[in-house]
Amino acid sequence: MKIGIDKIGFFTSDLYVDMRELAQQRQEDPAKYLIGIGQKKMAVIRPTQDVVTLAANAVDQILSEADRQKLGLVIFGTESGVDNSKSTAAYLAGLLKLPEKLQVVEVKQACYGATAGLDFAQGYLCLHPEKKVLVIGADIARYGLRTPGEPTQGGGAVAMLVTTNPRIIAFEPNSAVAMRDANDFWRPLGESEARVAGKFSNNLYLDLLQEVWQEYQKTAGLQLIDFTAFIFHLPYTKLGLKGLRSLTSGNDLAINSQLFKQFEAARSYNSQVGNLYTGSLYLSFLSLLQNSPKLQAGQRIGFYSYGSGAQAEFFSGLLQPKFKEQIARNDFKQILTGRRKISVADYESLYQQQVIQTTEHKLRTTEDLAKYVFAGTHESQRTY
Ligand code: HMG
Repeated sequence: MKIGIDKIGFFTSDLYVDMRELAQQRQEDPAKYLIGIGQKKMAVIRPTQDVVTLAANAVDQILSEADRQKLGLVIFGTESGVDNSKSTAAYLAGLLKLPEKLQVVEVKQACYGATAGLDFAQGYLCLHPEKKVLVIGADIARYGLRTPGEPTQGGGAVAMLVTTNPRIIAFEPNSAVAMRDANDFWRPLGESEARVAGKFSNNLYLDLLQEVWQEYQKTAGLQLIDFTAFIFHLPYTKLGLKGLRSLTSGNDLAINSQLFKQFEAARSYNSQVGNLYTGSLYLSFLSLLQNSPKLQAGQRIGFYSYGSGAQAEFFSGLLQPKFKEQIARNDFKQILTGRRKISVADYESLYQQQVIQTTEHKLRTTEDLAKYVFAGTHESQRTY
């Protein structure tokens, strides 16, 4: 039985800051951000958006009435949750008025949460092949202002409808996983900015990539030549480039040049949005599908998922005959080109406002033209 992604939706803020301007304000050479880090623009999230609304705006693009009727499970991968008990999936189901004969759950393991969701969805669909599962990866990536992590912020949501007989990609049965109990990146309870041991996190990402890739090749009996493209979790796009270099070193140059071309397509959207944490790998997948004209049905894509703390997985999927039609349904390029550039000073002001507030407050939502917005907190309850 084939199981995989049938539809993908994506949403991010309508505001961004230009990385050249941010570098100038931080007295850095712009080439460090544009080439050294590999980021051109960074999404700036309004205080009237949280992961629930980002996800709702992404799901809204893909979910038909027929999908709603068959929905059995919603798995919300995030590390930017809005409540210690109630899941973001429950908020989302309420906001979208999903049918109530439904299971809803939030999954957390840093940037790995949506990948865990896809794995769990496959198990669920083996038991309930007639159902559909919604898997979300939505986050707001926040480091401190003027810290080394600052140019690697961003935010947004990717929503995937996972089904049997999927029209975009069918996952293959083999995957390889590795974990470490590591403090490479973490966010203590009550804090709204991540803490990070930057170089250590980069090294662990690359070490675990090698570990799961070697293991995957052994168990799946496949090697580099069997893949059309590799996509990576992209906290910033240069790290994925380093990952691809480490997979391809010592291999045939012609194959490598194809893989590097595909990587350029796969990092295009991420370089304009920044880190989405859980959604990052899947935004890169979307970017590959919409920016690489030569892809064909039947080709194999390799996925490297990494979440700090740390969990890694390498898995693969085969593009399905209708993938081009499915991807052409939504114009994601337009979401990115239709955004408005704001100044570094305005970004800093919005950054200060984008914190989880539990006390009574009402937000002015008129400036945010998104369909779903966060309106503030009333009697300790979030209102949308
Ligand atoms: P840094 O220390 O300021 O930067 O921050 P750097 O000095 O290492 O420079 C970065 C790159 O720019 C280097 O390239 C420089 O050479 C180059 P590399 O040597 O690495 O190839 N460079 C230049 N290039 C061109 N022209 C110039 C120039 N100057 C320098 N003039 C760091 C970098 C990544 C540490 C920082 O941004 C950070 O802490 N980021 C956050 C952590 C992170 O993203 N880690 C990634 C792995 S962990 C992960 O992926 C999980 C995560 O998504 C969270 C989760 O799982 O939930 C983060």
